[in-house]
Formats: sequence, C-alpha cells, structure tokens
Amino acid sequence: MKLKNKIALVTGGSRGIGAGIVRKLAEEGATVAFTYVGSEKFAEDIVNEIKAKDGRALAILADSSDPKAVTDAVNQAAKTFGGLDILVNSAGISKGGMIDDLSLEDFDLTFKINVRAVFVAIQAALKHMKAGGRIINIGSNTVKFFSFPGASAYVMSKAAVAGLTSSLARDLGPREITINAVHPGPTATDMNPDGTEFATTVKQLMPFKKYGKPEEIGSVVAFLASGEASFINGTSIVADGGQTA
Ligand SMILES: NC(=O)c1ccc[n+]([C@@H]2O[C@H](COP(=O)([O-])OP(=O)(O)OC[C@H]3O[C@@H](n4cnc5c(N)ncnc54)[C@H](OP(=O)(O)O)[C@@H]3O)[C@@H](O)[C@H]2O)c1
Repeated sequence: MKLKNKIALVTGGSRGIGAGIVRKLAEEGATVAFTYVGSEKFAEDIVNEIKAKDGRALAILADSSDPKAVTDAVNQAAKTFGGLDILVNSAGISKGGMIDDLSLEDFDLTFKINVRAVFVAIQAALKHMKAGGRIINIGSNTVKFFSFPGASAYVMSKAAVAGLTSSLARDLGPREITINAVHPGPTATDMNPDGTEFATTVKQLMPFKKYGKPEEIGSVVAFLASGEASFINGTSIVADGGQTA
C-alpha cells in the first residue's frame, strides 16, 4: 500500500476519471475526501464502497465554479481527517463549439471550473500541506495535439493548467511539495463516452484502437502521489495509449 496514512482530496470524484482516482488512492491505503456537484447518489455509493473495504472516505458537495465552496471543501477535508497530503484537481467540464458560436458564458464557466478552481484549491491546500505534499492536476493530451475543431476554450483551459503546474514547481520546490499534471487521452466517461460515432473515429487515431479506463489514469495519479515519485516535479505525464506520440 503506497499511500498508507496519507490524506487526499480529489475534486470531481463522483464520476469518471475522478472516481477512478478516488478508488485507486483508497486501494493504496489513502484516506480520501472528494467533491461532487450533482451526483449525490454516485458520491454516496463510492464512500460506502470504500468504507466496506475498511477505508476512510468523505464526499463533499462543492461547486468548483464557486471559489468559496472550493476553499471550504479543502478546509473541511483537512479538518475532518487531520491534515492534507495529496490534492488532485480532476473536476472539469468540456464545452465544445466553433469560435463563432461559443458563448462568453461557456468560456467563463470553463475557466472558472477548469482553471480558477485549480488555483484556488491549491492556495487553500497549501495552508495544510507539509513537506512531502503532492499536488496533481488533471489536464488533457489535447494540449499536445488535437485533431478536431471546436475545442478552443477547453484546450486553452488545459494549457493553462499545464502552465500553472510547471510554474508552481518553482514556488513549491523549496517547501518540498511536488506538483505535476497528468494528461489523459480519450478515457471512457460521461464526458467522452465509448461506443459513439465520435469514439469510433477517435479510436482509429490511437495505436491501441481503444479508449482508456478511469482506473488507468488513477494508477498514474497514485504513483505520482506516492513516495516513489519524489523526484518528479513540475512535469506532465501523458497517459493516452500513445495517441499523441
Ligand atoms: N474523459 C476523457 O476523455 C478526458 C480526457 C482528457 C482529460 N479529461 C479530464 O479529466 C477530468 C475528468 O473528466 P471526466 O471525463 O471524468 O468527466 P465526467 O465524466 O464528466 O465527470 C466529471 C466529474 O467532475 C465533476 N464536476 C463537474 N463540474 C463540477 C463542478 N462545477 N464542481 C465540482 N465538480 C464538478 C463531476 O461531478 P458530478 O458527478 O457531481 O456532476 C464529475 O465527478 C476533467 O478535468 C477532464 O477535462 C478527460
């Protein structure tokens, strides 16, 4: 168990990649708090699943578009479990649209959730994190290469996350806290379901010809969160089955 006695908070942990991360961190022995916004039932189910295996988990309702809710969630996780060792920023949305059609409302919401909330959660987490702390941001392999139109706001937001990650390595290094990003490729979730016409097209561009699973992203995050990744800092790991190779 790589993460025994560690306390983690995952934003957007009720479904998809975030849920895969929550499960992996718990499997590795971490106590895991996670946020959700609409999926109360899924959140409860994950908490019960972890508790049934003698783990510790807490679901916190916190809308990432509200900075106070994000800060409160970080503080609640740290207060409930007595500290915070690992922060994973996974909550995210994808609002597609060609540049002529994409509304400013959608643009702003994308940046509130995918970018500002990441910054705010890190600021709040640092009040609790000691040397050895780990911050992991979920970006996207679209920052490397993306073959489809209509993703400008989303890709911009993930590029911002990559920039925040590399620049904060300089701020946090002296505190012996690492910060890294994981850039998933197509992963079967509600945001990017497998089995659609789009998925069939995407898979043709992938060496494996198949989508990733949330737990495959969770494994990378669990590694980065562990002591084994102590010299990895300020970088991005692409987990996309070679799609952007
Ligand atoms: N799937 C992919 O192919 C793929 C590829 C690259 C990167 N990513 C990134 O991976 C992350 C997770 O994506 P996913 O595919 O798992 O998405 P998803 O299936 O749509 O799940 C999104 C998760 O984020 C939460 N969330 C959404 N908006 C939120 C808000 N305002 N406040 C708090 N939580 C919120 C959701 O909570 P509720 O369940 O409560 O709604 C849910 O737990 C995102 O950052 C995404 O950009 C995904």
